[in-house]
This record gives sequence, C-alpha cells and structure tokens, in this order.
Amino acid sequence: MKKTFLVCGARPNFMKVAMVYQEMMKFPHEFNPLIIHTGQHYDFELSGAFFEDLNLPNPDIYLCVGSGSHGKQTGRIMIEFEKVVLKEKPDLIVVVGDVNSTLAASLVASKLLIPLAHIEAGLRSFDRTMPEEINRMVTDILSDYLFTTEEVANENLNREGIDERKIFLVGDIMVDCLFLNRERARETRILERLNLARKGYCLLTLHRPSNVDNVDTLSGIIDALNTISEKILIVFPIHPRTRKMMKNFGLSLDKGVKVINPLSYLEFLNLEKNARFVLTDSGSMQVETTVFGIPCLTIRENTERPYTIERGTNTLVGIDKEKIVEKSIKILEGNNKSGEIYPLCDGKVRERIVEILKNDLET
Ligand code: UD1
Repeated sequence: MKKTFLVCGARPNFMKVAMVYQEMMKFPHEFNPLIIHTGQHYDFELSGAFFEDLNLPNPDIYLCVGSGSHGKQTGRIMIEFEKVVLKEKPDLIVVVGDVNSTLAASLVASKLLIPLAHIEAGLRSFDRTMPEEINRMVTDILSDYLFTTEEVANENLNREGIDERKIFLVGDIMVDCLFLNRERARETRILERLNLARKGYCLLTLHRPSNVDNVDTLSGIIDALNTISEKILIVFPIHPRTRKMMKNFGLSLDKGVKVINPLSYLEFLNLEKNARFVLTDSGSMQVETTVFGIPCLTIRENTERPYTIERGTNTLVGIDKEKIVEKSIKILEGNNKSGEIYPLCDGKVRERIVEILKNDLET
C-alpha cells in the first residue's frame, strides 16, 4: 500500500485534491491517501467551506504557514513540509495546480527523492510576471508524473525537453468536480438569498496581483465595472487581497456592483451557471464557463488555457477599460460566443490519473 501525500494549500487546490482523494479511497489496498494542508489559505471562506462542500475529511496534517511574501510563504511551507515528509516517509507526493504550496512541496519532494506527480501540468501563459507561471515551470521540471489537461500542455512540455514517458494527457480534473457537484450546487439557495434572477446578473471575480496591486490598473478596471453596472447588476464575491487593495487605494464600486464575501464551492457554481456572463481573471473559471456554455471575458492579456479562447466561450479583454466595457455590452446585445467542451473533459479524469499511478507504482 502506497502512503500518498495529497498536498493542498489554496482555494483552487481543494476541488482537485478532493477528486484524487475520493478515487484513491476506492483502492484501499493500493493507496493510503493523506491530505496535507499547508495553510496558505486559512480563512473559513477560502478553505474550510470547501472541505465541507466537497465532503473532504479534515486534513491529516495542517502546516499553518499563513500569508507572507513569496519567499517567506514558500520557504515556510518547505521547512514545515520537509519535517513531515522526513517523519512520515510517503511513497508518493501529489501536487495540483500552480500555487506557492505546489512549488514548495515539489521542491521538498524532489530533493528527498520521493516520486512526485503534478496534476494540471504543462499549462503556460508565457508571462513570467505571474507568480503561477514560475510555479508551473519549476514544478513540471521536477515531476515524475505530469498529468496534462489538453494537447497544448503536452506541446509545451515537449518544447521544454520533458521526457515524453512522464507525460499523461488525461483532461481537466476540475471538470470532474463540476460534473459531480452540479446537481448539489443547484440545490443551494444562493440566488434566492441574494435576490438574483437567472441570467439577470454578471458574475465577477478579480484577484490577480497584476490587476489589483497597481492603483492605475485597478482604478481602470473599477471604472469599467461601474460603467457596465449601469446596464446589468454585477455580483462580486471579493477576494481578501482585492478588498485590502481597494481600501489602500481609496477606490470604491457603485451601487450596481453587489460586493459579497467569498462563496463556498457549491454556491459559487450555482451562481456561475446562472450568470448572464462572467468577468474574471481566474484560471479555472475560463474552463468552467465553457462547460456551462456561458460567455466569459477574461481580464488578462494572456491565458494558459488557449482552448477556451479557440474553441470555448472565453474572450481575452485585457485591462483596457474601453475594451472591457465594449465586449460586455456586445454580450448584453446578444453577441455570444458558443463553445465546445474539450473531449477529454468527460468526468473520468480522476479515474485515469489513479489508474496510471496504480499500475505504475505496482511495477
Ligand atoms: C493564491 C494563488 C493564486 C490563486 C489564488 C486563489 C499563489 C502564488 N497564488 O493567490 O494562484 O488563484 O490563491 O485564491 O499561490 N488572505 C486572506 N485569507 C486567507 C489567505 C489569504 O485574507 O485565507 C489574504 C492575505 O492578505 C494574503 C493575500 O490574501 O496576503 C494573498 O494570499 P496568497 O495566498 O499570498 O495568494 P492569493 O492572492 O490568495
């Protein structure tokens, strides 16, 4: 039986880890999965609420690292995680996504010669000003199993010289989680609680440092949002980083933007599915909106998920105020992009991943 560490730390990690955990639990003779939470996200709304919604047990090990600069946060996770790995001696470490916890755990795993699997490998925005891009590149170079979401990720890894035998194209595990939970999401009363009509609002998320840490960029985006809110209500579950920066810069949103606390996974999915369109700088939402068939305007200059642009419902609008407003109005006028779900997003991604790990570790 393989003692397997499933490492998570920040909000988008929990859904992916939940999928792998539940699948591994089906094979108790092969896997003993332990959930290691670094504590990168510690607020209930960004962490505990997700464990509840996903029926995940409490983490087996909680590292309590909290917030800090990249160096501090990554370093603290490494120090604490190394102690746990040395004590527990796992046979396999699984990391997901591209957050600082992913990078820190990967560095520790590879230095201690523990086999490392990376789920969501190979995605590239080609923008090294994004901390996630550095995390992705380093994690991939260190990984022994690279589970990719789409062909372009394989091409990126090939170009970087990663051994072909380590790369497995399996699809997007986040979509497994969406399929598994969409009925439960429908049962949440979030629309009623917020007094929202189906398709009567735009859903907004915004938290990338490149968008919210610079006063000129953030005030331009906020101007755009205030203009759009004259035409449609915007619902904005606000990330703590964005709340803090708006306060620091003295920026405010008009009444047409309904600012709420971050939502749990199921409530958020329900809100996303019923939105008229989505404005976001998130990675996963670009995929989720394509699955739901909802127009998505991504407030970024680039994306690591080009499929969503080429074949999905996503459009990059950058940070230019006029463009954000213009594209939003076009959607409201009925100019919608239709999209196709990526073929490998069939709800069986977790099965493929666990099957590969099972067979490979047996040999
Ligand atoms: C992190 C990920 C990002 C992901 C996002 C999802 C990295 C580099 N970034 O960004 O890829 O999209 O999570 O939310 O790993 N804070 C709280 N409560 C918390 C956690 C954070 O208030 O529970 C505040 C703190 O002020 C903190 C700030 O948010 O300084 C940023 O947190 P951090 O974990 O550094 O990165 P995120 O912006 O959340």
